[in-house]
Amino acid sequence: MSKTRRIEALQDLEPTTDEFHASVIKGLSAPQKTLPCKFFYDERGSQLFDEICSLPEYYPTRTELGILERHAGDIARLAGPKARLVELGSGAGVKIRLLLRALEAPAAYLPVEISREHMLAANRSIAARFPELHIAPVCADYTRPFALPELPGIEHGTTLGFFPGSTIGNFSRAEAVSFLRVARDLLGKDALMIVGVDLVKDTRLLRAAYNDTAGVTAAFNLNLLRRINRELGGTFDLAAFRHEARWNEALERIEMHLVSMREQQIAIRRDSFHFAEGETIHTESSHKYRIDGFKALAMEAGYAPVDVWTDDEELFSVHALRTA
Ligand code: AVJ
Repeated sequence: MSKTRRIEALQDLEPTTDEFHASVIKGLSAPQKTLPCKFFYDERGSQLFDEICSLPEYYPTRTELGILERHAGDIARLAGPKARLVELGSGAGVKIRLLLRALEAPAAYLPVEISREHMLAANRSIAARFPELHIAPVCADYTRPFALPELPGIEHGTTLGFFPGSTIGNFSRAEAVSFLRVARDLLGKDALMIVGVDLVKDTRLLRAAYNDTAGVTAAFNLNLLRRINRELGGTFDLAAFRHEARWNEALERIEMHLVSMREQQIAIRRDSFHFAEGETIHTESSHKYRIDGFKALAMEAGYAPVDVWTDDEELFSVHALRTA
């Protein structure tokens, strides 16, 4: 293999403004208004999310990193040499470096990410650090079907899927099963899949993680309205909504909402929406799992659980699964 850095041309399937518009109108027309959380990640949203990841209250990122540091060698052994690494939701690229360092001669890295510029910047520094690695980036909403780029002439071993950060928690349990099924078909037979899964725990800790005292999570949540104003010509008054994160005990999930602080009417192009005082837009769910519950869910989706690792306090889990 040549020693020149190789970053393939971006496969660009970024959702269009029309798709964004259509899902916002649909979400705001429902009896419980909702907005899809994948639209949090514009440039500012991605930055705010990176800030969330280093907040003292937000335990998932550092806890998962600790688990990955401890078990990168185990993952590398399970994957074997020349892995083809597929990362779903690549973000800032911190966790992937850890894996790339541990893997034996990884052949290719295929990041799939909805936030294009954020991903491209991360790829450039990964390419500089791992000059032998073939990088084939995809900008896509991975909740919709897409194909992985071909890697002509690249010989690779096991396909290693990587879905960290408990992003799987954004799906309902049923959606998580169908997502994992789609991912299984994407990765192919005998692939290894590493999934980061946040665990059910003391609700005080959970609530604090989504209600940080610095107000970064609130800014992240409200940024979605700013994005609608900017990209879709919306008329949201950001000062008339406030962030709220609740623990839904029955569904074992954190829910983020934007609460209308007064009765108001807002417009998006030709559509108009009424808000009662106290009415909310549900912007994100973050489901929490028990280890056995997640294994059962993975099996339902056609995976065999291979191993699972947690931190000493059992705040977070990292599952190794094999596609059947
Ligand atoms: C990226 C979906 C894992 O649910 O914890 C962080 C997003 N939202 N703080 C999560 C998020 C508010 C995060 N995930």
